[in-house]
Amino acid sequence: MKVGFGSDHAGIELKLTLMEHLKERGYECVDYGNYDPDNRDDDYPVPGRKVGEAVSRGEVDRGVLVCGTGLGISLAANKVPGVRACCCSEPCTASLSVRHNNCNIISVGARIVGREEAKMIIDSFFDAKFEGGRHARRVDMLTQIEKDYGKENETL
Ligand code: RB5
Repeated sequence: MKVGFGSDHAGIELKLTLMEHLKERGYECVDYGNYDPDNRDDDYPVPGRKVGEAVSRGEVDRGVLVCGTGLGISLAANKVPGVRACCCSEPCTASLSVRHNNCNIISVGARIVGREEAKMIIDSFFDAKFEGGRHARRVDMLTQIEKDYGKENETL
Protein backbone atom coordinates (compact mmCIF):
# COMPACT_ATOMS: atom_id res chain seq x y z
CA MET A 1 0.00 0.00 0.00
CA LYS A 2 1.17 3.52 -0.88
CA VAL A 3 0.66 6.25 1.72
CA GLY A 4 0.85 10.03 1.22
CA PHE A 5 2.05 12.20 4.12
CA GLY A 6 1.56 15.89 4.75
CA SER A 7 2.10 18.36 7.57
CA ASP A 8 2.40 22.04 8.34
CA HIS A 9 5.42 23.39 10.28
CA ALA A 10 3.95 22.19 13.60
CA GLY A 11 3.64 18.61 12.40
CA ILE A 12 6.85 17.97 10.48
CA GLU A 13 8.72 16.12 13.23
CA LEU A 14 5.82 13.79 14.04
CA LYS A 15 5.10 13.27 10.33
CA LEU A 16 8.70 12.06 9.81
CA THR A 17 8.42 9.75 12.83
CA LEU A 18 5.18 8.25 11.48
CA MET A 19 6.66 7.87 8.00
CA GLU A 20 9.59 5.90 9.41
CA HIS A 21 7.19 3.81 11.45
CA LEU A 22 5.07 2.88 8.44
CA LYS A 23 8.15 2.26 6.27
CA GLU A 24 9.33 -0.24 8.88
CA ARG A 25 5.93 -1.92 8.54
CA GLY A 26 6.48 -2.26 4.79
CA TYR A 27 4.38 0.64 3.47
CA GLU A 28 5.56 2.79 0.58
CA CYS A 29 5.55 6.40 1.82
CA VAL A 30 5.44 9.63 -0.19
CA ASP A 31 6.05 13.02 1.49
CA TYR A 32 3.95 15.88 0.05
CA GLY A 33 5.51 18.47 2.42
CA ASN A 34 5.89 20.66 4.20
CA TYR A 35 9.59 20.30 4.89
CA ASP A 36 10.83 23.30 6.90
CA PRO A 37 9.78 23.55 10.60
CA ASP A 38 11.02 27.17 10.71
CA ASN A 39 8.78 28.33 7.87
CA ARG A 40 5.63 29.59 9.60
CA ASP A 41 4.02 30.34 6.23
CA ASP A 42 3.73 26.65 5.40
CA ASP A 43 0.06 26.68 6.35
CA TYR A 44 -2.01 23.53 6.86
CA PRO A 45 -4.47 24.03 3.97
CA VAL A 46 -1.67 23.46 1.43
CA PRO A 47 -0.47 19.99 2.53
CA GLY A 48 -4.04 19.01 3.47
CA ARG A 49 -5.19 19.75 -0.06
CA LYS A 50 -2.13 18.10 -1.69
CA VAL A 51 -2.58 14.82 0.16
CA GLY A 52 -6.37 14.97 -0.33
CA GLU A 53 -5.88 15.35 -4.07
CA ALA A 54 -3.30 12.55 -4.17
CA VAL A 55 -5.77 10.19 -2.46
CA SER A 56 -8.68 11.36 -4.59
CA ARG A 57 -6.68 10.86 -7.82
CA GLY A 58 -5.50 7.42 -6.69
CA GLU A 59 -1.80 8.44 -6.66
CA VAL A 60 -1.69 6.98 -3.14
CA ASP A 61 -4.08 4.61 -1.39
CA ARG A 62 -4.33 6.48 1.90
CA GLY A 63 -3.07 9.60 3.64
CA VAL A 64 -1.60 10.62 6.98
CA LEU A 65 -1.72 14.29 7.97
CA VAL A 66 -0.21 16.11 10.95
CA CYS A 67 -0.64 19.70 12.13
CA GLY A 68 -0.68 21.20 15.62
CA THR A 69 -4.12 19.87 16.50
CA GLY A 70 -4.80 17.64 13.49
CA LEU A 71 -7.94 19.67 12.89
CA GLY A 72 -7.11 22.30 10.30
CA ILE A 73 -5.29 19.90 8.01
CA SER A 74 -8.16 17.37 8.09
CA LEU A 75 -10.66 20.14 7.31
CA ALA A 76 -8.58 21.08 4.26
CA ALA A 77 -8.37 17.48 3.02
CA ASN A 78 -12.12 16.99 3.51
CA LYS A 79 -12.80 19.76 0.97
CA VAL A 80 -11.46 17.49 -1.77
CA PRO A 81 -14.15 15.24 -3.29
CA GLY A 82 -13.66 11.58 -2.46
CA VAL A 83 -11.79 12.29 0.75
CA ARG A 84 -12.99 11.03 4.11
CA ALA A 85 -10.46 12.36 6.60
CA CYS A 86 -10.74 11.94 10.36
CA CYS A 87 -8.82 13.57 13.16
CA CYS A 88 -8.09 11.01 15.89
CA SER A 89 -6.56 11.28 19.35
CA GLU A 90 -6.86 7.65 20.35
CA PRO A 91 -6.72 4.24 18.64
CA CYS A 92 -10.38 3.17 19.01
CA THR A 93 -11.74 6.03 16.90
CA ALA A 94 -8.97 5.51 14.37
CA SER A 95 -10.01 1.88 13.91
CA LEU A 96 -13.74 2.68 13.70
CA SER A 97 -13.10 5.47 11.21
CA VAL A 98 -12.09 2.78 8.73
CA ARG A 99 -14.39 -0.05 9.84
CA HIS A 100 -17.55 2.09 9.79
CA ASN A 101 -16.77 5.27 7.83
CA ASN A 102 -14.27 3.94 5.27
CA CYS A 103 -11.96 6.87 5.99
CA ASN A 104 -9.05 7.17 3.60
CA ILE A 105 -7.06 9.81 5.49
CA ILE A 106 -6.18 10.10 9.17
CA SER A 107 -4.85 13.18 10.89
CA VAL A 108 -3.24 13.59 14.29
CA GLY A 109 -2.26 16.62 16.34
CA ALA A 110 1.43 16.91 17.13
CA ARG A 111 0.57 19.20 20.06
CA ILE A 112 -2.17 16.86 21.29
CA VAL A 113 -0.84 13.30 21.23
CA GLY A 114 2.59 11.95 22.13
CA ARG A 115 4.82 10.14 19.67
CA GLU A 116 4.09 6.60 20.91
CA GLU A 117 0.35 7.27 21.14
CA ALA A 118 0.43 8.61 17.57
CA LYS A 119 2.07 5.38 16.35
CA MET A 120 -0.66 3.33 18.04
CA ILE A 121 -3.35 5.52 16.46
CA ILE A 122 -1.80 5.09 13.01
CA ASP A 123 -1.43 1.32 13.49
CA SER A 124 -5.12 1.02 14.43
CA PHE A 125 -6.08 2.95 11.30
CA PHE A 126 -3.93 0.82 8.97
CA ASP A 127 -4.87 -2.49 10.60
CA ALA A 128 -8.61 -1.87 10.18
CA LYS A 129 -10.80 -3.00 7.25
CA PHE A 130 -14.06 -1.42 6.08
CA GLU A 131 -16.96 -3.64 7.20
CA GLY A 132 -19.38 -2.66 4.40
CA GLY A 133 -23.02 -3.73 4.85
CA ARG A 134 -25.13 -1.08 6.57
CA HIS A 135 -22.06 1.14 6.79
CA ALA A 136 -21.67 1.18 3.00
CA ARG A 137 -25.14 2.69 2.63
CA ARG A 138 -24.20 5.52 4.98
CA VAL A 139 -20.86 6.18 3.31
CA ASP A 140 -22.68 6.28 -0.05
CA MET A 141 -24.94 8.95 1.47
CA LEU A 142 -21.84 11.03 2.26
CA THR A 143 -20.73 10.72 -1.38
CA GLN A 144 -24.19 11.81 -2.46
CA ILE A 145 -23.81 15.06 -0.50
CA GLU A 146 -20.65 15.80 -2.49
CA LYS A 147 -22.43 15.02 -5.75
CA ASP A 148 -25.37 17.26 -4.84
CA TYR A 149 -23.09 20.20 -4.14
CA GLY A 150 -21.10 19.53 -7.31
CA LYS A 151 -24.22 20.45 -9.29
CA GLU A 152 -23.51 24.15 -9.09
CA ASN A 153 -26.23 26.57 -10.08
CA GLU A 154 -28.81 23.85 -10.45
CA THR A 155 -31.32 23.19 -7.69
CA LEU A 156 -29.25 24.06 -4.60
C1 RB5 B 1 -0.40 26.28 13.65
O1 RB5 B 1 0.06 27.10 14.67
C2 RB5 B 1 -1.68 25.57 14.06
O2 RB5 B 1 -2.73 26.48 14.07
C3 RB5 B 1 -1.96 24.41 13.13
O3 RB5 B 1 -0.90 23.53 13.15
C4 RB5 B 1 -3.18 23.57 13.45
O4 RB5 B 1 -3.24 23.24 14.79
C5 RB5 B 1 -4.47 24.08 12.94
O5 RB5 B 1 -5.52 23.41 12.98
